[in-house]
Amino acid sequence: MLKVAIILGSSRPGRKGEQVARWVYEIARKRSDAEFELVDIKDFNLPHLDEPMPPSLGQYAQPHTIAWAEKIDSFDAFVFVTPEYNHSTSGALKNAIDFLHREWNNKVAGFVSYGAAGGVRAVEHLRLVMAELSVATVRAQVALSLFTDFENFSVFKPGPSQERAVNAMLDQVIGWSGPLKLFREQQLVASSAD
Ligand SMILES: Cc1cc2nc3c(=O)[nH]c(=O)nc-3n(C[C@H](O)[C@H](O)[C@H](O)COP(=O)(O)O)c2cc1C
Repeated sequence: MLKVAIILGSSRPGRKGEQVARWVYEIARKRSDAEFELVDIKDFNLPHLDEPMPPSLGQYAQPHTIAWAEKIDSFDAFVFVTPEYNHSTSGALKNAIDFLHREWNNKVAGFVSYGAAGGVRAVEHLRLVMAELSVATVRAQVALSLFTDFENFSVFKPGPSQERAVNAMLDQVIGWSGPLKLFREQQLVASSAD
């Protein structure tokens, strides 16, 4: 079974991200084509990157990095739930991404964003970051407006089409995850034969 992480990318007290990520998870878990897990970056207590070696070498020294690496390694795909901070993603999410390398490689990502303009500028930045990590990002994305998908800019009340948008994004994420899983398995076989 394919495994998909729904990554909650805001760590702020009172974050709106929690309501959004839980909503995505509840929609996702009705599906039978993958297993889903809600992964909250806050639970991993990652400090600002404190690894002496570049993550691409995979020589992690800190227990928090090892715990985070084991969690991310266990998934075939990711759905990033991201706020928009200063036209980009949150510093906390970028930092959590930067901690690792191989654990992201040759996997799939989709995005759910929220902000005054749907958080779309955060997703544009994340797509560039994902490209550097060899993560395939799907086109379909979910953009939630602080004006129309939240009551009084605080209580999450998504519009009627947004659940469909989540499933359209998940269709693409899961569709690409199987072939990329096969690709990673073939790479493992090839490297063990070297
Ligand atoms: C540091 C910071 C920068 C922000 N910059 C933007 C922005 O560029 N565009 C936007 O639409 N909203 C911006 N906002 C408003 C956020 O979209 C809003 O606070 C949202 O609730 C943040 O998500 P969170 O509550 O899950 O942390 C910003 C908020 C913060 C805290």
